[in-house]
Amino acid sequence: MVLGLPVRGAQSLGAAAGQRLLVGCAVATRDLDDPKLAALVAEQFTALTPEYDFMPAHLVDDAGKFTFDAGDRVVAFAAAAHQPVFGHMLVWHFVTRPWLFEDPAGKPLPREKALANLQQYIATVVGHYKGRIRAWDVVNEALSDKDGEYLRATPALRAIGADYIEKAFAYAQAADPQADLYYNDYNIEQPGKLDKAVRLLRQLRSRGVRLDAVGVQGHWLLDWPPTDMIKKGLDALAATGVKVMVTELDVDPLPRDGSGADMAVAEKGVNPYPHGLPPEMQAKLAQRYGAIVTMLVHHPAVTFIGFWGTHDGRSWLNDYPVKGRTNHPLLFDRAYQPKPAWGAVVKALQGAARVEGVEGAAP
Ligand code: XIL
Repeated sequence: MVLGLPVRGAQSLGAAAGQRLLVGCAVATRDLDDPKLAALVAEQFTALTPEYDFMPAHLVDDAGKFTFDAGDRVVAFAAAAHQPVFGHMLVWHFVTRPWLFEDPAGKPLPREKALANLQQYIATVVGHYKGRIRAWDVVNEALSDKDGEYLRATPALRAIGADYIEKAFAYAQAADPQADLYYNDYNIEQPGKLDKAVRLLRQLRSRGVRLDAVGVQGHWLLDWPPTDMIKKGLDALAATGVKVMVTELDVDPLPRDGSGADMAVAEKGVNPYPHGLPPEMQAKLAQRYGAIVTMLVHHPAVTFIGFWGTHDGRSWLNDYPVKGRTNHPLLFDRAYQPKPAWGAVVKALQGAARVEGVEGAAP
């Protein structure tokens, strides 16, 4: 027992993966207040990502005052359960504080002022957690979804220019030289955005900043993107010389227009399974998860798979891209019970750990 928590279960995702890779989940402090859920997290997973407690809007207020209490609780829990923490995230255009890059009227700050804010924010947060975070998602979702547009038009880009990305990496490296540094985004394994991601990774590497991995979020659908498309994308990303982590895996079994995670997207849609997924859908979800994870564990550049949540009741997909649906994208149901998808993932993890025999590969 670790601080009253059960040790990792023999029947667990973590045990199935062995040393081949870390298997994480996103949690919030309120998840840890639920003893049953806390036990599940400690038993099943070998890494943690704070789901939102590390987002700028949760760490700092409009007056610039920092509060680390919630984030600290996740980090303390992870330490007690021997789970490395993946820090999500330092720079994003969402769940942030406008004053970092804009004046009260919404106009971009002068470059030097915005750079000073960025440096101070990163130094404060990364400095606070120095030595306790395995890897930081330094910049999240900087690439544009629009054809012909490279970088997303964000307040940081407008105030600083394209080099806000490499500056953020340099500031993070200075604040905790031991932490791995990731660029994180969605749909970058798919044609179109993939080219932009490869361009960005190459650029960052040519600037000499530390870049250890690219985080492929992995917000996927039952039938999109096809597993072989994902594999090709990971191959191309890995060819830039970085590791490829799947940082926010979930599979949405409900009908929607496209994969990804653009928070500006709001769809209207049906809510077909308010009382649970029927067996044929459970089977499809299991098959899809099995195929994805089998591919991932055989990919030499992948040493971390993080699920974006724990049980279905705690998935962001209950409110995205359609608000208020009853969604079923994760491996555990609302009664905390493993779904057929859990069995498929355990099998995929075990199979690969045996085949590969890649010991000690996890980051
Ligand atoms: C979501 C969280 O799950 C929510 O709790 C939060 O309110 C908004 O963000 N891509 C990301 C994650 O990088 O930060 C998002 O998480 C999901 C999409």
